[in-house]
Amino acid sequence: MKYKIISPSAKPTAHDGILFCLLSDSAPERGSAIARRLESLGLDLKRLKKDEGFSGRETQDLVMNVLSAGRHFRVVLLGLGRSKDVDPTRLRRRFQRAGSILRARGFARPLVFLPAGLELDGDLALTAAIVGLGLGAGVRITHARAEPRKQKEPVSVQIVAGSGKKRPRPRTVPDAATLADIIVEARNWVTEPANWLGPADLARRASAMGNAHGVACETWNLARIRKERMGMLEQVGIGSSREPRLVKMRWAPRGSGKAPHVVIVGKGIVFDTGGLSLKPVKSMPAMKNDMAGAAVAAGAVSAAAALGLPVRVTALLPIAENTPSSRSYRPGDVISGRAGKSVEIITTDAEGRLVMADALAYGAEMKPDAIIDVATLTGACMVALGSYTAGLWTNRDELADALIRASAETGESLWRMPLLAEMMPFLKSDVADLRNTAADSYGGAIAAALFLREFVGTTPWAHLDIAGPAFFEKRTEAGPRGATGFGISTLVGYLTGIAGTRGG
Ligand code: BES
Ligand code: MN
Ligand code: ZN
Repeated sequence: MKYKIISPSAKPTAHDGILFCLLSDSAPERGSAIARRLESLGLDLKRLKKDEGFSGRETQDLVMNVLSAGRHFRVVLLGLGRSKDVDPTRLRRRFQRAGSILRARGFARPLVFLPAGLELDGDLALTAAIVGLGLGAGVRITHARAEPRKQKEPVSVQIVAGSGKKRPRPRTVPDAATLADIIVEARNWVTEPANWLGPADLARRASAMGNAHGVACETWNLARIRKERMGMLEQVGIGSSREPRLVKMRWAPRGSGKAPHVVIVGKGIVFDTGGLSLKPVKSMPAMKNDMAGAAVAAGAVSAAAALGLPVRVTALLPIAENTPSSRSYRPGDVISGRAGKSVEIITTDAEGRLVMADALAYGAEMKPDAIIDVATLTGACMVALGSYTAGLWTNRDELADALIRASAETGESLWRMPLLAEMMPFLKSDVADLRNTAADSYGGAIAAALFLREFVGTTPWAHLDIAGPAFFEKRTEAGPRGATGFGISTLVGYLTGIAGTRGG
């Protein structure tokens, strides 16, 4: 999708429909470009409120076909709610809705009016609008329907930007469009069924995305994983005939010897049956999404490269399929990996922390300024924080601040959780250094975080448990059904923010 920003006084080129953003508490100023265009189409907001009940609330949108000067115009009215509530999160969310309407209705060249007079920093608002539009309009996989759904994203969008007082930075628009494309692609991997996306497939997709944006990629097969002593990744993946992989993706800007270095680790379980500790029927189908963390890590490093961010980023993707077979690892087994710590397996369904531990240990060896991991790690995190919020654990307050600040600008909700020392004894084993689940049924998300911490040493580290917001079974106000790409925007915001610092 191409974007062109035009000023309210410019005459737009040919378009096949118009999207107006409207506020619920203030009508467009008389004589403004929006007001004039509405008038020329014979649209009277007072009447629309009376006849259609459309008042610009943040949950309302109205699609109409309007006859004007002998031509049909398709018009979308998008409610944004009260002007004081319009922040980047709201804009992004509403524009995502707008994008999906434009795609579903087959608009090719829409004209979009941003609301005039918004008191938002111009670049932030524009970024939110364009990322939102791109996410909403991005084509989703429709699996193998006999009659594939018609979907095409618009070819080009003209955006009439607010009052035009502040000119956007020249990179704002292309950067936002690129970020949206990357998130759409990552979402599609997550939504894809596991029979289409095994470990080798995911490794190939991630490398292809990275290569397209200038990221150096390397994939390790099972033999290499063994050679690198990643025994826990090996054991989790060994039950499947589709062997595990580890993907390493590196972005370094030119002459970047001193740029901060961040390692991002993403959980890549292409399907989590639970292994021999088999999951119940109801909780299994969603487990094709268990590689969302890997998609986020690949997306974040690719975006860092595409945007030319002045930071060094290494993404590590431990990828495996967790499934029972005669070769599978078992409850009671004692295994160990890169860090040399032995782990007693209590349940083979706590597999994520095992593959993550090997990648975290390897990442920590690089002595980065920060290491951030992203994983659909525990159902317990959803019990604690609900579906919209990811849990954040970290051993550095500065890292918590930086990540929460970045997440607030994108509407990705993060909530800091404790690394509670009192719970450490629950992870002690009689036969090994650690057990893979706590000997207590409460606070499972915290126990998982404490387990991971054992593998990062003193490296500044943050853990994001995205089990809740990584995907939705139904469409929500926050986004579509299926994968969300939650985390990519926050990580890109974080990486942008630390440029020139030491990761904090
Ligand atoms: N992949 C799951 C966690 C999960 C659950 C993600 C629901 C998304 C939605 C993870 O591997 C898992 O099975 N966790 C167990 C941990 C338990 C065995 C300690 C869980 O949450 O039940
Ligand atoms: Mn599991
Ligand atoms: Zn899992």
